[in-house]
Amino acid sequence: LGSAAAVPAVSQALAEEKPSEPHGPDGIPAGFLWGAATASYQVEGAVHEGGRGASIWDTFSHTPGKVQNGDTGDVADDFFHRYRDDVQLMKRMGLQAFRFSVAWPRVFPSGSGTPLVQGLDFYKKLVDELHANGIEPFCTLYHWDLPQALQDNGGWENPDTARHLADYEGYVAGELSRAGVRHFFTMNEIRTFAELGYGNGTHAPGLAVGRKRLAQLTHTILMGHGLSVQAIRAHSATGVRVGLCENPVAPVPATLEPEDVRAAALAMREENAAYLTAILEGRYTEKYLRRLEDDAPRFTADEMRTISSPLDAVGLNFYTSTYVRSAPGGYEVLPTPSDFPHTASTWLTVSPECMHWGPRLVQELWQPKTIYITENGCSAADTMTSRGEVLDTGRVMYLRNCLGQMRQAIRNGAAVKGYFVWSLLDNFEWADGYSKRFGVVYVDYGNQTRTPKLSAQFYSSMIASNGADL
Ligand code: NOJ
Repeated sequence: LGSAAAVPAVSQALAEEKPSEPHGPDGIPAGFLWGAATASYQVEGAVHEGGRGASIWDTFSHTPGKVQNGDTGDVADDFFHRYRDDVQLMKRMGLQAFRFSVAWPRVFPSGSGTPLVQGLDFYKKLVDELHANGIEPFCTLYHWDLPQALQDNGGWENPDTARHLADYEGYVAGELSRAGVRHFFTMNEIRTFAELGYGNGTHAPGLAVGRKRLAQLTHTILMGHGLSVQAIRAHSATGVRVGLCENPVAPVPATLEPEDVRAAALAMREENAAYLTAILEGRYTEKYLRRLEDDAPRFTADEMRTISSPLDAVGLNFYTSTYVRSAPGGYEVLPTPSDFPHTASTWLTVSPECMHWGPRLVQELWQPKTIYITENGCSAADTMTSRGEVLDTGRVMYLRNCLGQMRQAIRNGAAVKGYFVWSLLDNFEWADGYSKRFGVVYVDYGNQTRTPKLSAQFYSSMIASNGADL
């Protein structure tokens, strides 16, 4: 078992970054990027085209009882065929950036070996289309669609998967950086795909492996991230920016008493100990290792150095908050009252303060030079009126409040340089299938018609003024 004390206390991953200049009192800085995000399996469809191999989400969604209504990503938004029209939609909305993900099994159908020559054609065409329309591409290299063949060999429980990921990411970043992509994220939401995929089995691959194996496979995932950072840098054209997207628990101090604010910072570090903290500090916290006792992961100091390979940007996905207060031993996470307001997804409580305290505490703890809000948004029971409009005022309320809180974070020194609404389009919401709509654009799944919702109009007007009235 490795020793936490073997690694210095400073933030290794960000040690080489200079802290950013504080932003002016106006909040949203000039040059801020406004965008929207999607992910391959949630929007592309075309699962049998171009020699694509199967992913764990194909297997999982085709297993009866795993996804609401038996929905699958076989067709999804048919983005694979409709991306040109969708880029025009982005342009009309005034989007300045677009975050998409690459499906690993399109490039390496069985996860490793020789890349499929045409595997990246779709993404290269998408990137060209974005560039031609003045939209900056941000590429996530792993948004949960692990090749099934790798899962058959143990998936994230097999350390080889981390090496295969790095080979895949190095190859794709090399190719796409030469096509002009400058921003890469190694992974999306480690916490979610580890805990739901292998902890409680509600996401693919649908396993519940127990605490010890979960801690060890999470370590392997972190290694996959670190090795990929190095592979991307080794293979890319110069000037690419590398980061990851994580969804840290966002602790909000229940009061503004200094001890509660301190408790929130402690909670940010501890509640994310196996994820963002490990990556940005290069060590697991003492408390995390103590809590797991014999189930703690085995690791070496060398591995922790790999895991904390320096990053250029931290992508943060914030949807909801956790309220905390000071307590003996540091902090206490408060229970969520049963009548706490929530969106169409019960887990997604309406607490925009995550967008202030989340980035602010990340900044205070680890001083990243650049933060992107890589996801923020909500589900709503959207319906179309007889006049063909979707008047999602609940989403307008949610977004306006979240963006106001983000502005507050920037005022307080968080280096937030861009924001991506989740999502551009309604899409395959994992185990909830198509039953939960997160888009600012409504999708009629019967005929693939897109209808911008009121929230899309709100977002466009906000982009046009660079958030002046937030
Ligand atoms: C986070 C995930 O990255 C995304 O895939 C998902 O659809 C949204 N949260 C909403 O749950």
